[in-house]
Amino acid sequence: MSQSLILKNPLDMHLHLREGEVLESVFPYTYQGFVGGVVMPNLSTPISNAHLALEYYNTLKALCADFTPLITIYLTPKLSIQELHQIKSLGFKILKLYPKGATTNSQDGMSEILAPQTLEVLSEAEKLEMILSIHAESGGYSLDREFEFLPIIAQIAQTFPKLKIIIEHLSDHRSIELLNRYDNVFATLTLHHITLCLDDLLGGGLNPHLFCKPILKSPKDRDALLELALSAHPKVSFGSDSAPHLASKKLSNPASAGIFSAPLLLEQLCELFEKHQALENLQAFVSDNAVRNYGLTFEKVREVKIQKISQKLPQAISLSNDQIIPLNAGKEISWSMI
Ligand code: DOR
Ligand code: ZN
Repeated sequence: MSQSLILKNPLDMHLHLREGEVLESVFPYTYQGFVGGVVMPNLSTPISNAHLALEYYNTLKALCADFTPLITIYLTPKLSIQELHQIKSLGFKILKLYPKGATTNSQDGMSEILAPQTLEVLSEAEKLEMILSIHAESGGYSLDREFEFLPIIAQIAQTFPKLKIIIEHLSDHRSIELLNRYDNVFATLTLHHITLCLDDLLGGGLNPHLFCKPILKSPKDRDALLELALSAHPKVSFGSDSAPHLASKKLSNPASAGIFSAPLLLEQLCELFEKHQALENLQAFVSDNAVRNYGLTFEKVREVKIQKISQKLPQAISLSNDQIIPLNAGKEISWSMI
């Protein structure tokens, strides 16, 4: 018998499922392995109110009833306290803050994050025990954008000590300190930021499929984040930030930011944790930390069995008029879900 491992209720705490044909093509890669996940709201029409969130929730449920989509609400300057209550009463509890212009479909995001009106909404979100997910980037020099954003996180964390704040796709080793400084600051980590660095994107030939926001950083950042993941730091959970874009858009100018990492994610995480003798921490990284930190409950436990059987990642996912290229396309992975 080959070596095997069981993961209970795996969760992807940050992913983009999109809509229409792309949604239908990419969603199975996630729901085959994960029982639920935090779904991002940056659609062509941002999910910025209770009605749109419910509609999107129902669309996802119709495609897979067994998957628990934790729909996030796109925080815009227009979000009212009344709407916030409506959102919470429908069971949605995660707000996503995009700085205006920081990434894909962020044009409706926040330009004055600490404006009094926003602080009022955050104060109410704190009372409602909601969670604030942050795309933490300034508009400055690409490699320093996350670092430059940290004072804003510190300010929000201090002002609202009961509001849980998630630094999404943490990418800079200088951000780690905030997890230890503030009880209410947490993070998600992607597979790409813990395994790749800037040289993978542009050190040889330019590889637009590895272009994402926040940008891949130095080997020192990568290694510090990998350590955080392998040790399953209690305030950190896995969030792939799988962000599919049509290949034509990845190869255009300007190229779309985003890495489609959904295929064989759990298998790749097994390979990575095995390589670093940390398999015993994978359960905490892909589920237990998230369940605890986001206050989740699942009626059933789904056991996902992964066995030491090799397989290859697809080269591409075909759509009717285009394709989507996954992270590590064509690579052999030594684990398979059974
Ligand atoms: O690379 C990224 N792609 N980063 C994000 O924050 C958004 C995402 C997308 O939606 O494509
Ligand atoms: Zn994202």
